Amino acid sequence: MSKQISGLVIAVDGPAASGKGTIARALAKHFSLPHMDTGMLYRSVALNLWRWGGDPASEFEALRACDVSTIDPADPELRSEAVGRIASHVSAYPSVRKALYERQVQFAGQPGGAVLDGRDIGTVIAPDADVKLFVTARTEIRAERRLRELLARGMNAHLEEVLSDIRARDEQDSGRAAAPLLQAQDAVRLDTSELDVDQAIARAIGIAESRLNPPHA
Ligand code: CDP
Repeated sequence: MSKQISGLVIAVDGPAASGKGTIARALAKHFSLPHMDTGMLYRSVALNLWRWGGDPASEFEALRACDVSTIDPADPELRSEAVGRIASHVSAYPSVRKALYERQVQFAGQPGGAVLDGRDIGTVIAPDADVKLFVTARTEIRAERRLRELLARGMNAHLEEVLSDIRARDEQDSGRAAAPLLQAQDAVRLDTSELDVDQAIARAIGIAESRLNPPHA
């Protein structure tokens, strides 16, 4: 029997610029579910901290920045590489992760189900998710994608810088002790290196559908 779609929880994790955000949004649309980009929570903390001149090296100051009520979710600065770098730094603090935990768990647990994307959704936030995807792509490809994204947004960026930023962020996100970037044991890996956006979305929907309606169930 197929699973009731009403309580469906989908976890999408992966490294920077892997395409997880695009895939998560498409899955949310396909299954008519609300979507949370959890990276935006960490980016909001980072922007908040930066705006009031707080020190990212101080866990105490980073924790104070977790009240993000003054940050406009539509602020284009949230998507900048500078803010991404600070986000990666402050997200390694256990107290920051704890402060943002409840909001994410509640979102995942809402009655109709939800799609969340981030780094630790399948491992920490929604370990019982019905579908878990780990979206990845080769580093150089992710850097090219991020560069195109930044240029399209009118931001100034160069491939070498973006590539080294992505490498640094991969290392920091994978190497930290608190909720490191890690493929959940029961996640399906989706490498989008050779796929365009439509192909990646079609593949993700196919994986989700076959998890929900296994061919031999
Ligand atoms: O879009 P991109 O993949 O570059 O980054 P993001 O998803 O917006 O996340 C920004 C940073 O927040 C990441 O480098 C992670 O360090 C952190 N993050 C996290 O620790 N846990 C999450 N669930 C989401 C993001």
